[in-house]
Parts: sequence; structure tokens; C-alpha cells
Amino acid sequence: MSGRLEPKPLPRRDYLGLLGLGSAGIAIFGSLLGMARLPKPRVLPEASSVVRIGPPLEFPPGTTRTLPELKIRVISTEKGVAALSLICTHLGCIVGEGEKGFVCPCHGSRFDPEGRVIGGPAPRNLPWLAVSQAADGTLCVDTAAETPAGHFYPVV
Ligand code: FES
Repeated sequence: MSGRLEPKPLPRRDYLGLLGLGSAGIAIFGSLLGMARLPKPRVLPEASSVVRIGPPLEFPPGTTRTLPELKIRVISTEKGVAALSLICTHLGCIVGEGEKGFVCPCHGSRFDPEGRVIGGPAPRNLPWLAVSQAADGTLCVDTAAETPAGHFYPVV
């Protein structure tokens, strides 16, 4: 016997209708969420490997300057400006200054002032990196682009 205070059981047709409405609501919500994410790029662009190192006045001919934050040595001559990577070609340690060039603190590879291997396990010379000039004249180094050893960028 059912009393007046007991809830009426939900008819099966109404139950299926509510279930359908709930599913449609979830689908619409998911679609809106997906559309809201569309304007955002899924892949973030990589930082450029080209870095600005400063105006040519900071690198007068006849000088060399180490930029430790970039792991490069900038060599400036009358022929132009060059950049030498200070990342050891053996296992990637940062080479330091030695008596006659560079010495790797990890396994003792030695390089002459132009980056040629003169001892140790390093399999190849230190890479020379591409130097360029921005439109405003600032010197730039591409830390991911090698250039032939001995190539100096003619600064204008
Ligand atoms: S990392 Fe430089 S010699 Fe091994």
C-alpha cells in the first residue's frame, strides 16, 4: 500500500529522457571546452637559437671575449668576428681556458685557441658558430649553426 508521502516512482520513459538530456549536456560541455582550447597553440614554439651578443663596438678587432652564459668565445680580428663554441665535443662539458687554448675539465681534452683538438678523447674540434648582424647592426650568433672553421663574419 502506498502512502501519500512516499515519492512516486519515476516512470521508465522519464528516466530515459533524463539520461538522454544528461548525456547531451555532457557532450555539449565537452564540445565547448574543446572549442575554448582551439585558439591556444598545442605546440609551443622553441626559443630561437640566434642570440644577440651586442654591438660591434663591444668587440673591437684584435680582442677575444668569452660569453659564459652563451658558452661561446667571440674572436674579433681585422677579417671580422667569429664565435667558437666552448662545449666539448667529447661529452659536452664546458671547456675552460688553458695555457695554450682550452682544456676540458671532465676528461682532459685540450684544444688550441682556434678550437682544434690537440689532445684527449674529444673526437673533433670545437665548432665555429654562424655569426650575423641584425638590421640594427647588433652582432648575433646562431648557437645551433656551425660554420667552417676559420670563417670570420665581415662586420659592416
Ligand atoms: S667531456 Fe670534454 S673531454 Fe670528456
